[in-house]
Amino acid sequence: MRRTTIALVPTMGALHAGHIALVKFASRRADRVVVSIFLNPTQFAAHEDLTSYPRTLRQDISWLAAARTDLVWVPSVDVMYPAGFATRIVPEGSATAGLEDAFRPHFFSGVATVVAKLFIQCRPDIAIFGEKDYQQLKVVTQLARDLDLKTRVIGVPTIREKDGLALSSRNAYLSAQERTVAPVLHRVLSDCAKSIAAGGPISGILENGRTAITRAGFALDYLEARHADTLAPVGARREGPIRLLVAARLGKTRLIDNIAV
Ligand code: PAJ
Repeated sequence: MRRTTIALVPTMGALHAGHIALVKFASRRADRVVVSIFLNPTQFAAHEDLTSYPRTLRQDISWLAAARTDLVWVPSVDVMYPAGFATRIVPEGSATAGLEDAFRPHFFSGVATVVAKLFIQCRPDIAIFGEKDYQQLKVVTQLARDLDLKTRVIGVPTIREKDGLALSSRNAYLSAQERTVAPVLHRVLSDCAKSIAAGGPISGILENGRTAITRAGFALDYLEARHADTLAPVGARREGPIRLLVAARLGKTRLIDNIAV
């Protein structure tokens, strides 16, 4: 008899339609779907939004029930990091590409450690991650490969609002005025991707994109063109496939997004 296959969808809760798309994708690819909800303190720096991060566990669980999740794994901080916990995974490669890691130096070791624990706890055949967090997707794919974890990581395209804004738990922080500005990020990414695909010069196109984002009222962390697999910087289209990645702050809210060229 064929063995029952398991898919894991790791989340930090505050679920939205992007998360649910991962769950639905998982249920098409495996017999059983496990969703973890764990607001992982080790991937937040002291000045970041751990304490204000939205917590909506009751609603999350009813959404997951409606999406036919078989098991919701909600470990406490004590279960994940009991007293005396002393091991950390420090990823390299795409985790040190100079994108998110340059602005959140603690972030990928927090993610890699918790994701490794979740894979070992749940032993899934596949694990589903969003392309929304593109660098994270690369890091966890490499992690599973490097540590011989028997889990295949699969990426799912970003789910967006009608106006292009990528769904994110952090969108809840945006004021009404900021919410009208937020779709600029996706618009600029799309425009830059089209111009680069049409053969325009990457550095000039990105420079115009950076100006447009800053003029709209964002504080820009980065807008970069990288190799879609390795995340190495690319200077010309022939060095691709290319992925454009952006991170920018609107008031107190930090948004990230990316797009294929
Ligand atoms: P979280 O931000 O809750 O995201 C959980 C998963 O949902 C991630 O794989 C993320 O890429 C995906 N996701 C978020 N927004 C999406 C969207 N608009 N469309 C498609 N997928 C989307 O990412 C994390 O949690 C954590 O770092 C985690 C991996 C759980 C480790 O703590």
